Amino acid sequence: MKFTFYGHACFSIEVNHTTLLFDPFISGNELAKDIQLEEIKADYILLSHAHADHILDCEAIALRTGAKVICAWEIHEWLNTKGVTNTHPMNTGGKWTFDEFTVKCVVAQHSSSLPDGSYGGNPMGFIIYANKESFYYSGDTALTLDMQLISRWANLKFAILPIGDNFTMGIDDAIMAAEFVDAKKVIGVHYDTFGYIKIDSNLAIDSFKEHDIELILPSIGESIEL
Ligand code: NI
Ligand code: MN
Repeated sequence: MKFTFYGHACFSIEVNHTTLLFDPFISGNELAKDIQLEEIKADYILLSHAHADHILDCEAIALRTGAKVICAWEIHEWLNTKGVTNTHPMNTGGKWTFDEFTVKCVVAQHSSSLPDGSYGGNPMGFIIYANKESFYYSGDTALTLDMQLISRWANLKFAILPIGDNFTMGIDDAIMAAEFVDAKKVIGVHYDTFGYIKIDSNLAIDSFKEHDIELILPSIGESIEL
């Protein structure tokens, strides 16, 4: 699986020649100013929740690419009013198999309101299954005991977790989350973008290493094979 980082909590994963783009927030991220929004590929766009720092560029990318947007029911309805009609509504606990992969929506402990203040439904994390492999993206969340269920549902190749603290898990809780879901390889997201979530990257990598977990912090625009 090829992972590409677009800054904050936005990344894409290529599986079966299909590009899954998660939580598109690029045009509002000063750190991602070198990323060309027009060049971002997507066959599917997955939204963990409705906050602007996860959906800001969804409408533009969905309309340009025709990608199918997978999201909570409430975000699906909101997107439909914006003319984004290729959507697939889901909710926590639900699983659906698309042509190239399967998605399971799992609990995230966070909040979710749309940019205009309307209700965004439940925030979610995702387990993605493809080619007998799987990974977990927690979305914005606190550490929860529910994460202990993840390893019953999937034998993860890697997990993508927020590490920036303040709005989500910080480094120490993300390490516990990695242990709960049984992931030995973690990609850290949702850090450094704003003043509230600046972290010491070396300290983060070393802290994970002390628990025998590899923390990967790709540069914005970098692709890695996982
Ligand atoms: Ni959020
Ligand atoms: Mn966020």
